[in-house]
Amino acid sequence: MGCFSCNGTTVLEENTDNNFTKANDQPRPGKAKSSPRGSRKVLDVKNEDVTKRKQSNSETDGLDSSDISKDEKTSSTQAQTFTFNELAAATGNFRSDCFIGEGGFGKVYKGHLEKINQIVAIKQLDRNGLQGTKEFVVEVAMLSLVDHPNLVKLIGFCAERDQRLLVYEYMPLGSLDKHLHDLPPNRKRLDWNTRMKIAAGAARGLEYLHDKLKPPIIYRDLKCSNILLGEDYHPKLSDFGLAKVGPSGDKTHVSTRVMGTYGYCAPDYAMTGQLTFKSDIYSFGVVLLELITGRKAFDPTKDPKEQNLVAWARPLFRDRKKFSLMADPMLEGRYPVRGLYQVLAIAAMCVQEQPTMRPAIADVVTALSYLSSQQYDPSSRNIQNTCKNPHSSKIMTKSSEDISTGHRGPMEG
Ligand SMILES: Nc1ncnc2c1ncn2[C@@H]1O[C@H](COP(=O)(O)OP(=O)(O)O)[C@@H](O)[C@H]1O
Ligand SMILES: [Mg+2]
Repeated sequence: MGCFSCNGTTVLEENTDNNFTKANDQPRPGKAKSSPRGSRKVLDVKNEDVTKRKQSNSETDGLDSSDISKDEKTSSTQAQTFTFNELAAATGNFRSDCFIGEGGFGKVYKGHLEKINQIVAIKQLDRNGLQGTKEFVVEVAMLSLVDHPNLVKLIGFCAERDQRLLVYEYMPLGSLDKHLHDLPPNRKRLDWNTRMKIAAGAARGLEYLHDKLKPPIIYRDLKCSNILLGEDYHPKLSDFGLAKVGPSGDKTHVSTRVMGTYGYCAPDYAMTGQLTFKSDIYSFGVVLLELITGRKAFDPTKDPKEQNLVAWARPLFRDRKKFSLMADPMLEGRYPVRGLYQVLAIAAMCVQEQPTMRPAIADVVTALSYLSSQQYDPSSRNIQNTCKNPHSSKIMTKSSEDISTGHRGPMEG
């Protein structure tokens, strides 16, 4: 695995021979295949057509539809196919005023599809490179099979000649990163209650993938730009192009090429290529830290010691007097002190170096559901209910002990 900076975004580079070297920050321009904006990840894939995709026969391959039992399809609706002309018509021929964003896959447009009378988001695969073709296949296979209120819905796709497009439900508030970082002056700052609601909803989406789906799925690309927000900041996970079917039988991990976004990638996975459900928990912890602190997972504009969010947070976790320093200054002090301690403890557990020490997603969901149900009223400057709820999870009990007694924090475990 290599790690290099690309237009300010540091990405992990996929190692096709499945050997992994320690991350370093040296640019490797010869290897980089950049997307128009600077790719979040580098893919080295064969040109595979979604209709011709063969059954995966290598454990380094991504998920394909054959990995998921047909019996599991019952609760979901099959993605529709659209012609290129239909999608061009929906976006006024991909007019610039319909453009809503761009990622490693290509450009995203807002459009209105006459056929189904619905506003949609249309992602067009960048045709200059083949990267993303495999992600396209996995995304269609994956999203056609899942169905959960916290996962973005794939409405359909177009695989006509060399065109590859994905059609999603339109998420009016866009991605979470746009609400946390580099805010334009007119954008509303996320308040504490909304942050907790987003955290709990994203955790529920991940719980569905880890614990409810058969076979379970490791998401592999959890980050703020993949959490899309609907009306009332209802969060949904998106971008399943990197998802992998979890280990089966007695296995605890899946061996795979290291892929993901720098700053979110669990150190154990980055070093060994062994992907576990706990790799997703680490990424979730990073997202939680971003929600609490307002800082980016990796920010090359900051002082070297503060560039990596987890590295910055680790020493602070050990000193409860410093917890208030971690709260996003944009909150202007409007957060419940106890709630801050508790959510920081959850984040600290999720980003522990030892994957086995990280909590299971079910415990994270229980803890965050409880925290998000405690509406904070900024005018009272107090959270109305303290954490004495008998239903609170193992995490809540542990986090309260660690933090309220001033004992060693979870990072020192
Ligand atoms: N379904 C959607 N609804 C609304 N906006 C979307 C949707 N999907 C993507 N976007 C917007 O397009 C941008 C690019 O998305 P994407 O291609 O997934 O790249 P990335 O995840 O790397 O940011 C996102 O940041 C988001 O703002
Ligand atoms: Mg995305």
